[in-house]
Amino acid sequence: MRLPETMTGFSTDRRRLLAGGLTLGACAALAPFAALATDLRSGLATRPIPSSGERLPVIGIGTARRFDVDESEAARAPLREVLRELPRLGGRVVDTAPSYGRAETVIGDLMAELGNRDELFLATKVGAGRGGAAAGIAEMEGSLRRLRTGRFDLLMVHNLAGIDDMLPVLREWKAAGRIRYLGMSTSFDSQYADFAAVMAREALDFVQVDYAVDNRNAEDRILPLAAERGMAVLTNLPFGRGRVLQAFGQRPLPDWAKELGIASWAQFALKFVVSHPAVTVAIPGTARPQYLVDNLAAGRGPMPDAATRQRMIDLVARG
Ligand SMILES: NC(=O)c1ccc[n+]([C@@H]2O[C@H](COP(=O)([O-])OP(=O)(O)OC[C@H]3O[C@@H](n4cnc5c(N)ncnc54)[C@H](OP(=O)(O)O)[C@@H]3O)[C@@H](O)[C@H]2O)c1
Repeated sequence: MRLPETMTGFSTDRRRLLAGGLTLGACAALAPFAALATDLRSGLATRPIPSSGERLPVIGIGTARRFDVDESEAARAPLREVLRELPRLGGRVVDTAPSYGRAETVIGDLMAELGNRDELFLATKVGAGRGGAAAGIAEMEGSLRRLRTGRFDLLMVHNLAGIDDMLPVLREWKAAGRIRYLGMSTSFDSQYADFAAVMAREALDFVQVDYAVDNRNAEDRILPLAAERGMAVLTNLPFGRGRVLQAFGQRPLPDWAKELGIASWAQFALKFVVSHPAVTVAIPGTARPQYLVDNLAAGRGPMPDAATRQRMIDLVARG
């Protein structure tokens, strides 16, 4: 059983709320997220994947660059901690790609050590299809080996590479149970028109696109189209590779943001992203345990309404 959807399209998982020490009566008596604002033991907000209804916590992790590390314990220890704590704190989604250097291998090794593959929602990509379906299939087989898994939770065609050759392959793999959900990803405005055209003609479970408080071009076409077409949305670059955080860094948060339970600029940036009703999960690049705790907290507590979202945009635009 789930608690009712809020105006922003969120619901919160009852089991996690109860595990967090809140009674159902207490939850129902409160505004949807008010009771959770400062309670780190309580549940993360979730959104459904439209094609199945399966719910995902709205904050996941991205693994570009920072998971491309060697086998040394010094390099791997914080990443192991992140992958151990992600599901313990209620998160699930891990976004990676074969083009992120050693990231898939590192994730595969660490998941095997931790024995927590089934607690995670593994999303990866295929880019080699630009050289034809056979090259794409070889890359997908390699990803399964590197991730040490029998199936992907989500496989996306990366940056539209060989999209027409690869979507039929992804559908075959899905039918065979080697992929649970399929989709495509981009982070380039220059691809949006072609991306939208594929969204309009193909049935996809997911799309992934760049979206941040200071990078909102996806709002024009991609996010409304995803909602219209029933596609879940992963959002990459929620901090603009750190741009938002560098700009605001040590400045104090405004009081109106603190009232939303926002305790850091990372949470400010993430609450903006996940409060867009078409966004299913944000995937901030997260390679430090303290970042994980910080970022997941953005999935708890009240969410900004339309007026507050505009206030966030204005604040960031003023610089
Ligand atoms: N086309 C595509 O499909 C595509 C393209 C781009 C990205 N992606 C995916 O999206 C993910 C996110 O993008 P990204 O990692 O490039 O950029 P990002 O999430 O916008 O920013 C990551 C940066 O934010 C910093 N950070 C993270 N959490 C923080 C916190 N709580 N407090 C302070 N700083 C924090 C990290 O710092 P440190 O430097 O200290 O670690 C890192 O430099 C990628 O990892 C990847 O999985 C997909």
